Amino acid sequence: MLACKVDLPKTLSHDFGQRSVVATHDLAGHSLFTDRALCALLDDFPRQHLYAFTMGDDVMRPEENRLASTEGVSGAELLEAVRHGRFWLNLTRIDRVDVRFRKLIDTLYAQLTRLAPHFQPMSCQGALVISSPQALVYYHADAPGNMLWHIRGRKRFWVYPALDERYLQREILEDIFAGVRHEYVPYEASYDEGAICYDIEPGQWAAWPHNAPHRVTNIEGLNVSLATEHFTAATLRRQRVYVANRFLRTRLGWKNPSTREDGAVATLKTVVHRAVARIGLDPLQYKRYAPVLRINAQAPGGVTALSDAKSLPA
Ligand SMILES: [Fe+2]
Repeated sequence: MLACKVDLPKTLSHDFGQRSVVATHDLAGHSLFTDRALCALLDDFPRQHLYAFTMGDDVMRPEENRLASTEGVSGAELLEAVRHGRFWLNLTRIDRVDVRFRKLIDTLYAQLTRLAPHFQPMSCQGALVISSPQALVYYHADAPGNMLWHIRGRKRFWVYPALDERYLQREILEDIFAGVRHEYVPYEASYDEGAICYDIEPGQWAAWPHNAPHRVTNIEGLNVSLATEHFTAATLRRQRVYVANRFLRTRLGWKNPSTREDGAVATLKTVVHRAVARIGLDPLQYKRYAPVLRINAQAPGGVTALSDAKSLPA
């Protein structure tokens, strides 16, 4: 295992998983995250698992989120473009690509489970996120339990109440769990009155309740974070109930099936749904983005239209 240290004050231990928690780690300055290491990582990273997304200025308009191709762009050019442009690079499932990250994530979670013994992850995985100084991440909710290990730059983070239909309709969460829509969800500025907002510095980690909507705006510098996901008996149970409810709602016309996650009815729904899904009676159309831009370190914003890519300096 890689040497690293996670801190979680005893007073926050019980809050982990239930409330938003910010504590510290010692990964800022680690050799895995220097410019040189990031360039090498990007050069070697399989491009089909690397996503570059640009964004607009308006947090209300997630439709301005656009996928940019990184094909043929070197690691050094990608880093240059993200430093001076306005987009983020998502090195998905880096734990599967680079064994150092597999070991690092295992070490982080081993320490977490010692610090918060009620936390019992069955598996964990992660992505490395590198984002521009002025980048933002639109209001969204994630299907797995997740958290952020912040390493470089500064960002502002808003977390909203979980499983509260004033902030996220249950039908949308069902779709997110089923993988049939992108995580971005409808947002209104008034939601901020119910949010917890904090700034995150290098050397801090943040966790929030499962499925709590959140959004991020970078404040300063090239931002580098490890975004990890974990699966527990509880997160998997919720996923199965919501996906089963989606089936009941969309295929059988049930109105508002219960979101209760324990008990005989919940178990029966999930068992029946898994059986019908196995025989192909709940086909799902997974959402995919298509690239419309290309990363170009010489272009303003670090991107150019895909069709114009060849006319700009390489
Ligand atoms: Fe997220």
